[in-house]
Amino acid sequence: MTRVHTGTMTLAAASDGTMTAPAAERNLIPIMDALVPELPERGAFLELGSGTGQHVQALAAAAPHMTFHPTDPEPDRRAAIDARCHDLPNVRPARDLDAGVPRWADGLRAQAIYAANVLHLISDAELAVLLDEAAKALDRGGLLAFYGPFLRDGGPVSPSDDAFDAALREQDPAIGLKDVAMVETVLGTLGLSVRRVPMPANNLLVLARHDPRP
Ligand SMILES: C[S@@+](CC[C@H](N)C(=O)[O-])C[C@H]1O[C@@H](n2cnc3c(N)ncnc32)[C@H](O)[C@@H]1O
Repeated sequence: MTRVHTGTMTLAAASDGTMTAPAAERNLIPIMDALVPELPERGAFLELGSGTGQHVQALAAAAPHMTFHPTDPEPDRRAAIDARCHDLPNVRPARDLDAGVPRWADGLRAQAIYAANVLHLISDAELAVLLDEAAKALDRGGLLAFYGPFLRDGGPVSPSDDAFDAALREQDPAIGLKDVAMVETVLGTLGLSVRRVPMPANNLLVLARHDPRP
């Protein structure tokens, strides 16, 4: 396993074993509004880096005919996800998945794959693995979705993104915000068509599907 960064999100732990991140609460409604209409009617939804499980909990209620598979490489996050989602009929127990390690997609097939606030916590090499494996696991007609802060034209779009990027690189020079054009180019080379959806606070939702062209 590679070294895992969990980010700078403030977390509150409760006595029932759940964890809550105010940031995940804040971005939940805009993500739901943009993502839910794009989801397939049914099938498997795989989330990479589910964190506290707040997003998967809400998405599972909004898309009751999909089966949700939260994942996280950190055991404490997986325990918190399970504590939050154990009574939801369409959410499976959280799996251990490091999206930067090759071959995680072996044997996996999903109609939707989603990662929020994960890409800036991994290196460029791990990102290449994540995108490659996600494209392999994605069913034809399925949806790949990445939410978070991105660089545009090689640079940050706001002073707060700049400070965030600098703090990440100080923690580990290999990580930091990724340029959205680079992510889109890689997705294109993997045969995916990409759409960029602007989100609040200068964030983006990057949506990708297998190119329908032969
Ligand atoms: C900032 S939190 C985001 C959690 C949640 N997706 C959200 O937006 O609220 C980042 C999560 O990514 C996970 N993570 C870090 N490196 C990862 C990797 N290589 N593969 C998968 N998840 C990873 C961390 O353990 C953490 O739970």
